[in-house]
Amino acid sequence: MDFTLNTFSSLVEVALAGLSYPTVAPGLFAPVRYTLESGGKRLRPVLVLASYSALSKAEPSTAINQALAIEMFHNFTLLHDDVMDRADIRRGRPTVHRKWGENVAILSGDAMLTMASQLLAKGAGDRLAELSECFNKTAMEVYEGQQLDMEFEDRDDVSIKEYLFMIGLKTSVLLGCACRLGAIMAGADSAASDAMYNYGFALGMAFQLRDDWLDTFGDPAIFGKEIGGDIVNHKKTWLLISALEAEPEELPAILAEDLEPQETIEQVKTLYVRHSLGDRCQELALRYSAEAKGYLDKVDMDVEARAFFAYLADQASARKH
Ligand code: IPE
Ligand code: IPE
Ligand code: MG
Ligand code: MG
Ligand code: MG
Repeated sequence: MDFTLNTFSSLVEVALAGLSYPTVAPGLFAPVRYTLESGGKRLRPVLVLASYSALSKAEPSTAINQALAIEMFHNFTLLHDDVMDRADIRRGRPTVHRKWGENVAILSGDAMLTMASQLLAKGAGDRLAELSECFNKTAMEVYEGQQLDMEFEDRDDVSIKEYLFMIGLKTSVLLGCACRLGAIMAGADSAASDAMYNYGFALGMAFQLRDDWLDTFGDPAIFGKEIGGDIVNHKKTWLLISALEAEPEELPAILAEDLEPQETIEQVKTLYVRHSLGDRCQELALRYSAEAKGYLDKVDMDVEARAFFAYLADQASARKH
């Protein structure tokens, strides 16, 4: 089997395009199609298929429904996240709540969550209980992480430790879960399943640190999301927390001022640059990518599979979108 990104992501794209939707209330599903056809890196379903393929001799498509389930769940979280984060642009297009309103974003998101559960069960056979246990536990953790993320907006005393705990919940557990779902479908033993989970979790830490870095330092044309939303929303990212430590007077004063959003973003960014916080954030992301690769040594897999997972771990902290 060809262990490349293209192999797995093509399978995902074809399967997503082939999904059918109930016809009773088309307005419920138009935003679902819109979201799924707007692209995205498909990292989570690729992790499911790659993890399955690394640990099984069968065709990767055997685990395609579980891969779609996690992509559907991820996209559901994005619909609600964009309401919560007041975000106007995703994947270079207006967000669902901007296009159809918040009520639609909520309800279409609900429909996606249910579709995710249905997909998880498809072709799962006697592995369903184990898949559901991982999936449901992870979903609850994502909600907990999202709640903390919101609560942190109104706090100035969030520690780096709390931040890392929060991103572990909102982002990393889902990448860990993606790897574990593949392992469960492959019938892997718990040592391999745990190692793959830990790989995905560490990769997720690098991934979110890089996401937060891109939110300030990314190129909006490539990133596909607005730059500076985290700053405007007072999101307690590694960057903002570290800047609050470095500039305990100046940063709160900037954030309290009634400036145009662009002006706030520029002024905060200046503080980040003054203290080389972008580079330091990036160093931490690289450490998590390295940690992720370390877990691969605990799993018996062939060299192509190992090289592919190592590539994904490196990408998590180097990506531009
Ligand atoms: C966005 O995830 C949410 C985060 C965890 C940062 P992705 O960056 O994987 O989004 P898409 O699916 O590729 O658009
Ligand atoms: C992502 O956090 C977490 C989830 C969507 C669960 P962000 O809020 O940073 O994600 P983006 O930047 O909007 O994609
Ligand atoms: Mg968010
Ligand atoms: Mg967001
Ligand atoms: Mg973000």
